[in-house]
Amino acid sequence: MSPLGSNLPLRTAVAGTGGIARASHLPALAKLAAQGEVEVVAVADIDEAAARAVAAEHGIPGAFTDLDAMLAEVRPDLVVLATPPAVHREQSVAALRAGAWVWCEKPPCPSLADFDAISAAEPGGDAEPYASIVFQHRFGSGAHHVRRLLRSQAFGRPLVAHCQTTWYRNRAYYAVPWRGRWATEGGGPAMGHGIHQMDLLLDLLGPWAEVRGMAARLVHDVETEDVSTAQVRFAGGALATVVNSVLSPDEVSRIRIDCELATIELTHLYGYRNANWRITPAPGVPEETAAAWQDFGADEPSSHLAQLRALVADIRAGRRHPTSGAGGRQTLEFITALYKSAFTDAPVLAGEIGPGDPYYTALHGGAPGWAPAAPREEEEHA
Ligand SMILES: NC(=O)c1ccc[n+]([C@@H]2O[C@H](COP(=O)([O-])OP(=O)(O)OC[C@H]3O[C@@H](n4cnc5c(N)ncnc54)[C@H](O)[C@@H]3O)[C@@H](O)[C@H]2O)c1
Repeated sequence: MSPLGSNLPLRTAVAGTGGIARASHLPALAKLAAQGEVEVVAVADIDEAAARAVAAEHGIPGAFTDLDAMLAEVRPDLVVLATPPAVHREQSVAALRAGAWVWCEKPPCPSLADFDAISAAEPGGDAEPYASIVFQHRFGSGAHHVRRLLRSQAFGRPLVAHCQTTWYRNRAYYAVPWRGRWATEGGGPAMGHGIHQMDLLLDLLGPWAEVRGMAARLVHDVETEDVSTAQVRFAGGALATVVNSVLSPDEVSRIRIDCELATIELTHLYGYRNANWRITPAPGVPEETAAAWQDFGADEPSSHLAQLRALVADIRAGRRHPTSGAGGRQTLEFITALYKSAFTDAPVLAGEIGPGDPYYTALHGGAPGWAPAAPREEEEHA
C-alpha cells in the first residue's frame, strides 16, 4: 500500500551499515519509528556479520547481503543508502525501479551523467518515488530562519560571500586504499568534504552563474586534489569565494554572507545549532528589526534527523523534497564546474556541462595530471 495519504509508517530499509549508518541514520530512524513515522524493516550490507549485528542490535527483522534480494523480498517504501559513493548510482536506480523513494548519502554519485541516469529512473511525478540526497545542513532551524529572511529580502541584496571548509586529514586517513581516488571516493575535498557548505551556500544564495576554480595536490599522495579554491558569481549578482581544504590544522566550517543590511555568519565544524549563527545589522537598521532577526525559534540542530523528518513529511504529502531532482543536481553541477574550471584554467558557466563534455562523465574530465593514469574498471562501467 502506498505511504501517500496513509498514516502507516514508511517501511524503510538501510543499505550500508558502516560508520554513518550507525552514527546518524539508525538513531534518526529509531526516533521517527518511536513516533510511528517509519518502520525499519531491513538492512543490507555486503559484510554479512555487520548486517546481522546491526539488525540484532536495533531489532530489525531483515538482514541481507544483497540489495536486489532485499528489494525483491521486502519491497520497502524508502531506501536509505549509506554505502560508498561508487555504488550510489546503481543502488539508487535499483531502489527506484523497485518502487522505493531513495535518500542517498553525499556525494550522490561520481558524475552528472550518473545523476541524470538516476533521475531518468524516476517515474517523474512529484508524488511518485524519487531520489533525494543527504544534505542535512539545509535543515537546521538556523538555515530555515536565515533562508526565510534572505528570500523575503529582509537583509536587502546579498553582495559578498565566503564559504569555507578548512579541515585537517592526516596521512593515515589517506592510507585507506579507496580514499583520494576518483573512482572510489568520488573526488577530493571539493566533493567529499566541502560539499555540505557549498550546498548550503547555494541553497541560501540561489542559482550561481559562473565559477573560476583552482586546485592543487600539496601534501597527500592522492589522485584527486587536497585543496581547492573558487571565485563565484551568482545569478543575483553577488560574488563569493570558496575554499575546500583537508590541510588546515585549525579546522572550521564557515559561511559568511554580507548583504546590504546585515552580515550573516555561520561558524561550526560538522553541524550547527542556533548559537552558531550570528547576524550583525548594518548601521541604521532599526533596533526592533535587528532584535527580531535574532529570534531563530526552537533550536533544531542540523542533523540527519532534521532532514529525515522533512523527507518523510514530503513523501507523505506527495511533494518533491528540496534535495531531490534539480534541487540536488545544482550542487553536483557546481562542484563539476569548479573542477572543470580548475583543470582547464578557464571560467565555467552554469549549464554548459552536458553530454559530450568530458566533465559530464568524469569529474577529472580526463585532464592530464589529474585523470587516473589508466582507466579503472569502475569508471569503464560508469
Ligand atoms: N552526511 C554526512 O555528514 C556524512 C558523514 C560521513 C559519511 N558520509 C557518506 O556516507 C557514505 C558512507 O560512509 P561511511 O563513512 O559510513 O563508510 P563505511 O565504510 O563506514 O560504511 C560503508 C558500508 O557500506 C557497506 N557496503 C559497501 N558496498 C556495499 C554494497 N554494494 N552494498 C551494500 N553495502 C555495501 C560496507 O560494507 C560498509 O559497512 C559515504 O558516501 C560518505 O561520504 C556522509
